Amino acid sequence: MLKLKLSLAAALALSVPDDADQQQFWNEWNTRYRSADQVAHLDPATIRRRDNALRWISELGLSRPRILDLGCSTGWLTAELAQFGEVVGTDISDASIREARERYPDIQFECGNFLKPDARKQVFDIVVSVDVLSCVADQPLFVDRIRRILRPGGYAYIATPNRFVYERRDDVAQLGPGQVRHWNYPGEVRRLFEDDGFVVRRFTTLLPEGHHGILRAVNSYKINNLLGRLVAPTAIERAKERFGLGQTIALLAQRGSDAGPPAPTTSHL
Ligand SMILES: C[S@@+](CC[C@H](N)C(=O)[O-])C[C@H]1O[C@@H](n2cnc3c(N)ncnc32)[C@H](O)[C@@H]1O
Repeated sequence: MLKLKLSLAAALALSVPDDADQQQFWNEWNTRYRSADQVAHLDPATIRRRDNALRWISELGLSRPRILDLGCSTGWLTAELAQFGEVVGTDISDASIREARERYPDIQFECGNFLKPDARKQVFDIVVSVDVLSCVADQPLFVDRIRRILRPGGYAYIATPNRFVYERRDDVAQLGPGQVRHWNYPGEVRRLFEDDGFVVRRFTTLLPEGHHGILRAVNSYKINNLLGRLVAPTAIERAKERFGLGQTIALLAQRGSDAGPPAPTTSHL
């Protein structure tokens, strides 16, 4: 049994691209999608993800929190988060971190694989991580490392692709060389945090998408058009998001059993 477990672990380790390959993949990805030009004209889905993150953090009402933007790419969201307090950005992509430092010289940026131990003891009030959980090989370790750098009662804001939707989309790029990709179902993301001792304060999905299987009917233009005569289209969108049919899972979780009273707003959005 032990032998089987060890060989399974070895096989998994072999199938994970090494840091250099991951770095190369993300250097290219960020150059293509997060260059200065790109972030000046963000697509509507990225804008919605950004706005939800900023709103939930703002509604926490913390005074000058210390925030880590984990998987910050070229620092565009880190710069937005700076309106709340002191921010630090970190990413495995060395080219993106160089670009972030040039663009935002007043912000601290660090390059590294978040899964690797870091001798420095930095503590944050909030860790924000948008579209990164699905890019790491060991998700429980990722969540545990977030918990370790949060002060007691600190918050993790996570956005990540919804596997139920992504498996029913027809516009998903093929897995690239050096890319780690592990989408999760909404319940899995919640459990990852609860199993590590977090208390989930807010949870939803964003941006209904997908046109295969059941989602073909759910997102059918004709059906939604007809429904839209009876109910406001935004109400239909929000209902789908509440039912877990948005392409992005968003979660706000508070560290530990020392979590204290609930955050001011506990609705799903
Ligand atoms: C899909 S991009 C999202 C970037 C950014 N958060 C955004 O929303 O524009 C994923 C980011 O996570 C970074 N990343 C992936 N694995 C990482 C790791 N193990 N440690 C630190 N950063 C990582 C990548 O370099 C990339 O910038």
